[in-house]
Amino acid sequence: MHKRSFAGPEEAQVRVRAIPGHGGRDMRRRVSRARRWVAVSVALGAVAVLAGCRGPDNGQNSLDPQGPAARTIDNLFVPVFLIATVIGIGVLAATVFVAIRYRSGAGRNENPKQIHGSTPLEIGWTIIPALILLVVAVFTIRTVFDLAREPEGDVLQVTSVGKQWWWQFNYPDEEIVTANELVIPTETEVRVKLTACDDSLPGECNVIHSFWVPELAGKMDVIPGRDNATTIEADDPGTYLGQCAEYCGLSHANMRFRVIAKEPADYEQWVEEQQAPPAVPLQGGADDADPAGPAQALVLETYQCGNCHTFDNPGASTYGPNLAHFASRTTFASGYYELTRERLIEWLLDAPSLIPMETEDCREPGAPAVEGGTCVGMPSFTKDGPGPVMSQSDAEQIADYLLSLK
Ligand code: CUA
Repeated sequence: MHKRSFAGPEEAQVRVRAIPGHGGRDMRRRVSRARRWVAVSVALGAVAVLAGCRGPDNGQNSLDPQGPAARTIDNLFVPVFLIATVIGIGVLAATVFVAIRYRSGAGRNENPKQIHGSTPLEIGWTIIPALILLVVAVFTIRTVFDLAREPEGDVLQVTSVGKQWWWQFNYPDEEIVTANELVIPTETEVRVKLTACDDSLPGECNVIHSFWVPELAGKMDVIPGRDNATTIEADDPGTYLGQCAEYCGLSHANMRFRVIAKEPADYEQWVEEQQAPPAVPLQGGADDADPAGPAQALVLETYQCGNCHTFDNPGASTYGPNLAHFASRTTFASGYYELTRERLIEWLLDAPSLIPMETEDCREPGAPAVEGGTCVGMPSFTKDGPGPVMSQSDAEQIADYLLSLK
């Protein structure tokens, strides 16, 4: 390795001394001014970075726990963070103190007194950190077991299936399947089984995702072939934002969801509404008894919507989100867009232009089939390709039908 040569203290002093007249003093003034600028820049940078930490109530603040599991984590995080902060500041302060106190400079070019070996110090700085780590470990392990405990008694069971890029929520006892909005009763433990494999759709295993609702619980990975579970509970009614926390492809960052906590009575009412058949049954199919009726089924058939979605079975697992009570949701596209007619029409025509999806090129002639696993997500119906191109009036008709599915 090339050996770099640094000016030693003596050399540096010779150089300073070699500058004629008041040059040495000018340089020192320039150096101290530069230092001041560095200090001001660092302070401003720190303020800018820290300002990002305190946003408005963004609904994803793990430091603002809204349920027992998140509180358990917070009760571990805050003391450990404080201990780490005190130690961190101590180490930094000692480093800065030593650097300043023993720096080289005029009249201070001797090495400080050298000390070798001090039994009390050696024992002290071995035992004290070991004790601190032991205390932290005891509380950490207790928290880990606390969070892993399987809840008993009045527990709502839900299965969450991670898909690219949305979440399916199955309520096995209630026989409800919904998407992207997990509705739960307040002050009730909800056991969420997390799976990447949809048991109702044979061979349908997805990639790894991670289920995270920062204000309600910690992250839990969703892994194909291994079922995980987590417990969430909300103290108060409200909407808690969730996010996929494991990179899972193009639209990972858009794979959001919501936990909507309702008072138990409101939750019961929601369950009844979800269990009911859709307000507007699907009409106009090829074998519909009344061919003069609305022609939604024919339109949906044209674009093969039923290959991935269901419109009239609120209890069915599907390749795309179950749409039987679509209009009861506040958002669509995994919580990315507010549910409005305008946006929905845009989505029906060309979804990959709103959220990056692997289906963007799937209508190119000779594109791989969906079964091949390379076409994930809603296709675009505006591009020329093997399938039909969707007209504006068809998109409007489908949107109006979907918005009637309360
Ligand atoms: Cu799913 Cu990232």
